Amino acid sequence: MSSVTVRVPAKVNLQLSVGGPRSDGYHDVATVFHAVSLFDDVTALPGDHLTVSVEGEGAEVVPVDDSNLALVAARALAEHTGTEAKAHLHVHKSIPVSGGMAGGSADAAGALVALDKLWDTRVDRDELQAIAATVGSDVPFALMGHTAVGLGRGERLTPALARGRFHWVFAFAQSGLSTPAVYAELDRLRTGSVQAEPRISDALMAALRSGDAVSLGRTLSNDMQRAAVSLAPDLAMTMDVGDEYGALGAVICGSGPTCAFLARDDEHALDLAVALTASGTCRSVKTVTGPAAGARVVTA
Ligand code: C5P
Repeated sequence: MSSVTVRVPAKVNLQLSVGGPRSDGYHDVATVFHAVSLFDDVTALPGDHLTVSVEGEGAEVVPVDDSNLALVAARALAEHTGTEAKAHLHVHKSIPVSGGMAGGSADAAGALVALDKLWDTRVDRDELQAIAATVGSDVPFALMGHTAVGLGRGERLTPALARGRFHWVFAFAQSGLSTPAVYAELDRLRTGSVQAEPRISDALMAALRSGDAVSLGRTLSNDMQRAAVSLAPDLAMTMDVGDEYGALGAVICGSGPTCAFLARDDEHALDLAVALTASGTCRSVKTVTGPAAGARVVTA
């Protein structure tokens, strides 16, 4: 086989309920992941070593050394299957780097699916999910896509019943936020208060089952939001623009700083995008829809 290209979606958390810090440094979460039509493409080609190259959105700040998540995933798959880790991975990015949309996790998931095909290792989906969880908390969802409830670190997934298609506008910030830094800021802001167990909102799940965008907009929530705004106070201005132009709901993606706005339909999404661009409160704006499929081979 000469090359395999896999397309992998970005995610927004429709809800992100975060518990207190665990002894292993992670936080238990109860989250609803939603994949959207903003994709990274990962191509696997034969190679004499294991290498990666990156182009596109934010490529200049993505490491191409051993810390690159696509390479971490490749080594995990090679080890699991007893395969020699030889390939070149080429990543074409559209998902913002350090934007809270799991772009690095998408690249890891893409590498797993592409190399499983290139190396003909035929690992089944459950095993691939387990390997993905060792690479990062959000990698299993990038494989699965659509809409899903995530528990534990976010890696224990159950597909969620969701009807319809939702129209979103994403506002990308000038600079990224580090996920561990935002979790640490949340812990700092919560000092002295006892954390309830994270739990999924029944109202949100009902909104997804009915496909009602107005109800979904009202039930979006993210515990990380105040920590992200505390570290990047300008985000409050971006969120205000969405409010002013009638977004059905607004939420910061994961640990931020990307802001997600739910629109009534595609026309409203375009209006919101124009207003956000004109406001000058963000670097760039994209209209997308959700849910989107998880990592899948597009050319082989
Ligand atoms: O799992 P992943 O490597 O993507 O996580 C990156 C960092 O984010 C972790 O090292 C941890 O600091 C933080 N994290 C967390 N709780 C989670 C997921 C991530 O504290 N559920």
